[in-house]
Amino acid sequence: MFIVFEGIDGTGKSTQVTLLAEALRTAGQEIICSKEPSDGPHGTRLRNSAENGRLSPQEELDLFHLDRREHVETLIKPALSRGATVILDRYFFSTMAYQGVRGFDPLEIRTLNEKFAPLPDHVFLLELDLDLALERIGVRDGQANQFEQREALQECHKIFTSLPDPFIHRINAEKTPEEVHQEILKHLP
Ligand code: TYD
Repeated sequence: MFIVFEGIDGTGKSTQVTLLAEALRTAGQEIICSKEPSDGPHGTRLRNSAENGRLSPQEELDLFHLDRREHVETLIKPALSRGATVILDRYFFSTMAYQGVRGFDPLEIRTLNEKFAPLPDHVFLLELDLDLALERIGVRDGQANQFEQREALQECHKIFTSLPDPFIHRINAEKTPEEVHQEILKHLP
């Protein structure tokens, strides 16, 4: 099984990855958890760019794709083909949303990704009130880039919620981590 968590920053994706991995391991499955941007060289460059100055939109988009190609070939495909369950914190739906906000066409991004990146069986889209999400990531009123960030995240959210696929489950992430976890389990066999 291939499971992906998506949502704007602050919705609790990494907590839910951990809870789900624990639950499925207890059930005896081999579980591989990973995230994007990955820990590989391209992913590391992307993470550093968040601190040392953001890359141009095109450079950033190219790096996310290079990172994902490597992640798919070295980790995702090998794990899936030996029958393990893979759980990811973000995948190409994040590229559609975040790079969509930077001016690229989300549908073109998707078409490009589907040429090399396998489709997940389940995507859990964690949804949270924008102000609550911003509060959780530590953005407070009056902060310089708050407006920009708020608008960008709102746009991301719009792109996420416009995804039409039946394998995408919208999950209310406002409840406690355990309640959200139980909600997620209902969608799995
Ligand atoms: P995030 O999961 O928030 O990492 P962490 O909290 O561990 O630092 O991801 C970092 C940022 O990368 C996040 O703001 C979303 C962005 N991102 C994209 O812009 N495009 C993508 O394709 C992906 C996977 C992430």
